[in-house]
Parts: sequence; C-alpha cells; structure tokens
Amino acid sequence: MKYYLTTPLYYVNDQPHIGHAYTTIAADAIARYKRLQGYDLFFLTGTDEHGQKIEREAQERGIEAQMLADYMMERYKSLWQMLSISYSRFIRTTEDSHKKAATHLFLTLLNKGDIYKGRYEGPYCTPCETFVKEKVCPDCGRTCEIISEETYFFGLSRYRDQLLSYIQENHNFIMPTYRRNEMTNIIGEELFDLSITRSTFNWGIPVPITGAKDVMYVWFEALINYLTGVGYPDDKEMFERYWPCDLHLVGKDILRFHTIIWPAMLISSGLTLPKKVFGHGWWTIDGEKMSKSKGNVIDPYEIIDEFGADGFRYFLLREIAFGLDGNFSRKALIHRLNSDLANDLGNLFARVMKMVESFAEGKVPQKADGEYLRELSLNIGKEIDEEISELKFHSYIEKVWVLVREANKYVDQKKPWMLKGDNLNSTLYNLLESLRILSIFLFPIMPNLSLRMAESFGLSEKDLSLVNLTWGELHSGTRIRYTAPLFMRIILK
Ligand code: ME8
Ligand code: MG
Repeated sequence: MKYYLTTPLYYVNDQPHIGHAYTTIAADAIARYKRLQGYDLFFLTGTDEHGQKIEREAQERGIEAQMLADYMMERYKSLWQMLSISYSRFIRTTEDSHKKAATHLFLTLLNKGDIYKGRYEGPYCTPCETFVKEKVCPDCGRTCEIISEETYFFGLSRYRDQLLSYIQENHNFIMPTYRRNEMTNIIGEELFDLSITRSTFNWGIPVPITGAKDVMYVWFEALINYLTGVGYPDDKEMFERYWPCDLHLVGKDILRFHTIIWPAMLISSGLTLPKKVFGHGWWTIDGEKMSKSKGNVIDPYEIIDEFGADGFRYFLLREIAFGLDGNFSRKALIHRLNSDLANDLGNLFARVMKMVESFAEGKVPQKADGEYLRELSLNIGKEIDEEISELKFHSYIEKVWVLVREANKYVDQKKPWMLKGDNLNSTLYNLLESLRILSIFLFPIMPNLSLRMAESFGLSEKDLSLVNLTWGELHSGTRIRYTAPLFMRIILK
C-alpha cells in the first residue's frame, strides 16, 4: 500500500506566512496518519524558484535570483523543521534533476505534436504568473501588463473532452465537490491553448528547441515537479512505486492549474492522472485579506514562538472546516488553546498521571476491560478514518475530543480517590489506556505533544500505530513519568 501526496511549491519571492504553513501542516497531518496505518508514504514539498516575479524581486533587492532563492528556501525549510513537517523530499525547481525532468516532458509533448510556435499578445499578471483575459487580474485585482512575444503554445484545448470525461468519471478527482462545477465551467467555456515559453527575461529553464533562447513558462515547468519528486524520468523503479499521485493538496487559488493544465499535460505525455486534487479555503486576518501593503501578514515564526508549534497546528486544523475560508485572530487562537488543550486534554492528562503516582505507586496497574471507554475508543478509531479520507480535520478532532470528554467524565463519576483495590486499579488502567489511544489519535495533529504523552507511559514513536488498534496494549507494571503539564494555560497580559 503506497500513498503519495504533495503540497504546492511555494514561491521564493517572499517569506513564508500562515497560508503556506496551513497547507503544509494539513499535508503533514495526512502523511502522519497514513504512516500510522502502515502505508509506504511519500510526502513531497518544496519551492518554486523561477519566473519573472522572482527575477524582479531579486533585482529590486540588488541580488542574484539564485541568492534570493537560496535564502528563502532556507526560511521555508527552517519553518518546516519548527513545525515538525515530516516531508520525504524537499524539492527545488532550480535543481538539475528538475531541469532534466522538465526538459524531458517538454520534448515528450513536442514529439507528440502538442507544442507549436505562435505569438502571445495580451495581459499578463506577474504577481500571479498568469496569462489573463482582462486588463485587471481576476485573481488579485491588480492591473496587468500587456506582453507581446513569440512563444510556443501547448495545445490545451485539444484535451477539453478528455478532461471533462475524466472529471465526470472520477467523482473524487476535484475536491471539495462544490469546486468541481467551477472547474468544469472553465473547461467548457474558455479553454484556450497555453503559452508555455517566455522570451523577455532569462530566469527559467531553457526551452530545448534548437536555436530557441526562451525559458519555460514558470507554471508549466513547476507542475512537473510532482513527477521529478518521485524519480521521473530516470528512476523508473521509484516512479512506478509512487506514481500516480494520490493527493495534490493546494489552495483554491491554484486549483485550476492542477485540475486543467496539469492533467492535460499528463494526458498528452501518456502518463496516468493524479487521483485527487483538493483545493482548500483561504485564511483572512481579522476579516481582511492578508497583504504586504496592509501590513497584516501573520508571521508563523512569531506565532510558534508565542504559542508553540503544536498549538498552532491544532488551531489551524480545528478552527475551520477544511475547504472553507476562515478568519485568523489571536483572540480565537488563545481561546481555543486554553479551552481544548490546557483545560480538556491537559487536565485529563494531569489528573490521571497524578492519581497513578499517588494511588498506584506510579506504575500501570493490572489490565482491565475498559468498560465503555474501550468501545468508544475503538469506534472513534474507525470514524476518524473516514474523516481523514475526506480531509475533514475539524471533525477528526471533534471525534477525538469525545473521548477526551468522556474520559474526564469517567474520572468525575468514578472518583478514584474514593476507590480501593481492584476497582481503583481497573479505573486507573482504563484511563491510562484511553490516554495511550489518544496519543495515537493526536499524533497526526500534534506530534510533539502526542510523543510526550506516549513517553510518559514508556512508549516511543515506533509504538504508535493504527494497524489493528486494540484495547489493552499498555503493560502492567510499566513505570509512569509525569514531568510537566501537557499545555500551559495562556495568560493574557
Ligand atoms: O501559487 N490562506 O505559490 P504561492 C490559505 N508557486 N492558504 C494560502 C494562503 C491563505 N491566505 N496564501 C497562500 C504558488 N496559501 C505556486 C504554486 S505548484 C506547482 C506552484 C497557500 O507561494 C495555498 O496552498 O503563491 C496556496 O495555494 C499556496 O499557498 C500558494 O503559494
Ligand atoms: Mg500566490
């Protein structure tokens, strides 16, 4: 069983912000879940380093484009490290392996007869790196520049019918479903051939046609990274192991590149199409679009500094239904972390661990049958499986919280401090075992917090698994270590 998933490759013209963190955290949660299930998993992320936007930004800063790319790429990598992003490969579009793959694919389409010479005259939005129809960019609202250049076109419009029938026959290809119509409308109404080369600047991959001095259009080339990432064209063994991609995770802004241009390129080259493309929603800041000019861009480094990586991951995945837009505010973040992590989960963990220390000499008591906590845990294990396959992170977390709340109630009802002997022991065992199962469920969302839970009952990452989830894995006699609260309450100054 293999699973291959990707994030977009982020542009290196600027620092990462919470939008970039969001997609990557969501991808990491899926990757970690699939690993718990025993999948042979490949998780690709990286940076999109070519194009006019990046060339210009470098010129403005008075440095080489490659220097800008090297610097920003490190900013992304260090952010991913701080956020515990477990990618398999970080790919850069300036790598030789990628230049080779892009060149190979270009030549494949050329040999197929799908690339022809022409002239593009019309508006171009450089911040979005897109050819548009009107003078004002429909995506960002900025006024476009008019370009006029000799180019090569990819015969995208030839694939209209094949694209439409692929979308119709594969109901899960475009997710969420409410975005599928938007895409089919675009294909039905305005599918034009795509200019795939640029001749007015140099920062890109050279077009492999004798005599051509052009570079490839940055989107055309960047999409090919999903092939490069798993060994295309030389490492056939790896490529066959992971291709086709199971999930391209992207924001709704770039869904059409991934569900129209990209599949058409793949059909033309004779490769299998990806199984699913999910376009998630947009974060706004206190109700407004995030932008440099508004000065309201949220710096993920600062949030992590203040609230920790796991808290940040938790908030982003819990606060809104994946797919819909959401609003980011410090107030909502603090409220969410205090009530869910410091109170519900943190209290449960602290009181159970302290009771085991005081009433059971700090050791796991004899195994017990779990009463209703056993059935509840195992059922939730099945339910979250569905939630993850539909990328419903918020309801995944809600389901897990049912167990958190029920375990808290179990403590209130049983009052272990009033129990003795077998009753006391089985109550404590049931609570500890619920915590063990919770540490598994929480691993995809908050890996560090989950590992701290697991370590406190003598387990490590290799013990976390969702293959044959069963009750009663915690061994009697194991020494319990409660060192610190799971999550410190945030006090507003
Ligand atoms: O488009 N809310 O890169 P990019 C949620 N290089 N997600 C957001 C967001 C927000 N406010 N802002 C950005 C590109 N994102 C191309 C991709 S792929 C071959 C090439 C996330 O740096 C979201 O995933 O502009 C969006 O699709 C992506 O960042 C765009 O990143
Ligand atoms: Mg963008």
